[in-house]
Amino acid sequence: MSKQTILETYSKLAVETKADLCCGVDYRKEFSSEELDHIPDEVLDRNYGCGVPIELRTLGTGKSVLDLGPGFGRDCFVAAHKVGPEGRIFGLDMNNDMLRQAEHYKSKVVSRLGYDNIRFLKGQFDVQIPLENDSVDVILSNCVNNLATDKRRAYSEMFRVLKPGSKLSFADIVSYDLLPLKLQENEKAWADCVAGVLSFQQLTQILNEAGFHGVTLTTQFSYKVGTEVLKQYFDSGSGDSRIRLSSKEREELERVRLYSVLIEAFKPVVDPQGECYWTGQYALFQGPGVSLQLDDDPDHVFKAGTLKEVCEKTATILKSEPFKGHFTVFEPQGEVEARLCVPGGKCC
Ligand SMILES: C[S@@+](CC[C@H](N)C(=O)[O-])C[C@H]1O[C@@H](n2cnc3c(N)ncnc32)[C@H](O)[C@@H]1O
Repeated sequence: MSKQTILETYSKLAVETKADLCCGVDYRKEFSSEELDHIPDEVLDRNYGCGVPIELRTLGTGKSVLDLGPGFGRDCFVAAHKVGPEGRIFGLDMNNDMLRQAEHYKSKVVSRLGYDNIRFLKGQFDVQIPLENDSVDVILSNCVNNLATDKRRAYSEMFRVLKPGSKLSFADIVSYDLLPLKLQENEKAWADCVAGVLSFQQLTQILNEAGFHGVTLTTQFSYKVGTEVLKQYFDSGSGDSRIRLSSKEREELERVRLYSVLIEAFKPVVDPQGECYWTGQYALFQGPGVSLQLDDDPDHVFKAGTLKEVCEKTATILKSEPFKGHFTVFEPQGEVEARLCVPGGKCC
């Protein structure tokens, strides 16, 4: 998929007055006027997102935040107020026209806030994020990750710049099942946040492969169904411009189901690939639920009510977000001789 159509689409949207692109929610209904007073109406009137990233509601003072694909800058401006003058906000967008708009509105925001903690940067997050390793507390994005043409690279870059123990929090479109190839190849649908979408399973897997854990996907509402996709991207042309589909391709497209989803994932506090020593610690899963799978390691399943030996590394992970509160970790009684969990083998 080329980036050209995405660039052209968002250059147009930077000058057109289009209130909604896919399924944005009205921030005036989600936040108090105190949280939005410093943001110009023109920014709040354009909503090219698809929800409110969970962490945007609860950001604390002093945090450093990276927003991927900020567009007009709405989420950066909400965050700038929440983190206060001690915090730092970076908005990374690849589109000059969007960056120009964001800078224009930033000057108004900064004068209303009385401090400047926002920097807009130019770049592609699925190529390279222009920030240091382990440098930000939170990564936000709103209806942007589906646009990445190299998803693996995008998530590995996010993992690199997040501080250990910190989180990724985004709103995005997710599909029930793998998207049909015919749809994935449709450039217009890609630029409209439809064709670059991952399935629930693909997204979880790609996040785990990048090193994230504690992945949660909270479905908000249905965004589009297959018949709408067919009508908008395949059946709207006439004559030769109409995309021809076999009956099998049509059936596959009819089955498409897209949802607006809130996604969170954590970078572990310690490197899960590091050496694994048991020093006498046990963990007890407290629920909710009957069991919890910590990551994609089949040995990392914790059943409620069953005490399980855990290595120092796993104990540290279970005592940190998002697992703390769901586990009791028992420290060793007296001296315990450290031993390699499974020599040369798996983590416990
Ligand atoms: C759907 S809009 C979302 C804008 C904003 N987050 C909001 O909620 O209103 C997508 C934005 O992401 C930017 N974008 C798309 N792909 C990108 C990439 N690979 N790297 C950086 N920015 C990208 C676009 O230029 C555009 O500003």
